[in-house]
Amino acid sequence: MTSKIRKVVFPVAGLGSRFLPATKSIPKEMLPIVDRPLIDYAVEEARQAGVEHFIFITGRGKGAIEDYFDHAFELETTLSERSKREALAALSTTQLRHGAASFVRQQKPLGLGHAIWCARDIIGDEPFAVILPDELVRHERGCLAQMADAWNEKGGNIVAVAEVPDDQTFQYGIVAPGADDGRVAEVKGLVEKPAAGTAPSNLAMTGRYILSPEVFEKLKDGNLGAGGEIQLTDAMAKTIGDVPFHAVRFKGERFDCGDKAGYLAANLAYGLAREDIGPRLIELMPQIRGDLKR
Ligand code: G1P
Repeated sequence: MTSKIRKVVFPVAGLGSRFLPATKSIPKEMLPIVDRPLIDYAVEEARQAGVEHFIFITGRGKGAIEDYFDHAFELETTLSERSKREALAALSTTQLRHGAASFVRQQKPLGLGHAIWCARDIIGDEPFAVILPDELVRHERGCLAQMADAWNEKGGNIVAVAEVPDDQTFQYGIVAPGADDGRVAEVKGLVEKPAAGTAPSNLAMTGRYILSPEVFEKLKDGNLGAGGEIQLTDAMAKTIGDVPFHAVRFKGERFDCGDKAGYLAANLAYGLAREDIGPRLIELMPQIRGDLKR
């Protein structure tokens, strides 16, 4: 078994129905935060954690993601003929090492657990990471890198968690914690989208996982869970006791970009932090708030 997380899975097959009609003809993962699509931030976070191979679990209509990480011959040639150096440099994050990306189609929308299971042949018998690109975490040391630090110490499975209010636990996979030092908690149980009032804690999983390959054995059964889908949470729960399992509270601000307000908040936050855009955006605030005289 390797002592490094070399591979990451991005489940990107979802329909993006919450962002229709925008997502009728573009994948939701291609929606921009300022000037880079969500998926680019996820790849950057994985790279920062030392990941070398990027596995995209796609579906119909997701071709734009594959094109995004490809060499764009005509565009690059035109930019270079016109000496557009800055524009060319902006493409740098889209360059992956040759052969470092795999695209697998999830043929049916059977759930997050099924999407991850579709990566089993490419991952083989080694630990791997999962990032849900909808969940954006802003911190100079990326969330996955912070989790890798904990994994180097603890091994096994690591999930990122954040405290959520009582009335939101039903939207998440929730951890039942054991020994807890305030940053890292042992995971004693997991429940996907618990009914109101039944959550074992307020620690919600926030779309980042480091998983031991044992999880594939549990996913193989294809049992249906919450929402009639094959749930990653259920398969992970079955590995408790077989592999060490910890939840990590990460540093950084979290934006739920699967939600319209969260997505817009991320755009404002990232825009305000940019030297080239922030000051102008502040000038525009009164107009954004609608408190200018018309
Ligand atoms: C998925 C997971 C859930 C997790 C959530 C984080 O749910 O199944 O455990 O808490 O992502 O965003 P989804 O939001 O896809 O329904």
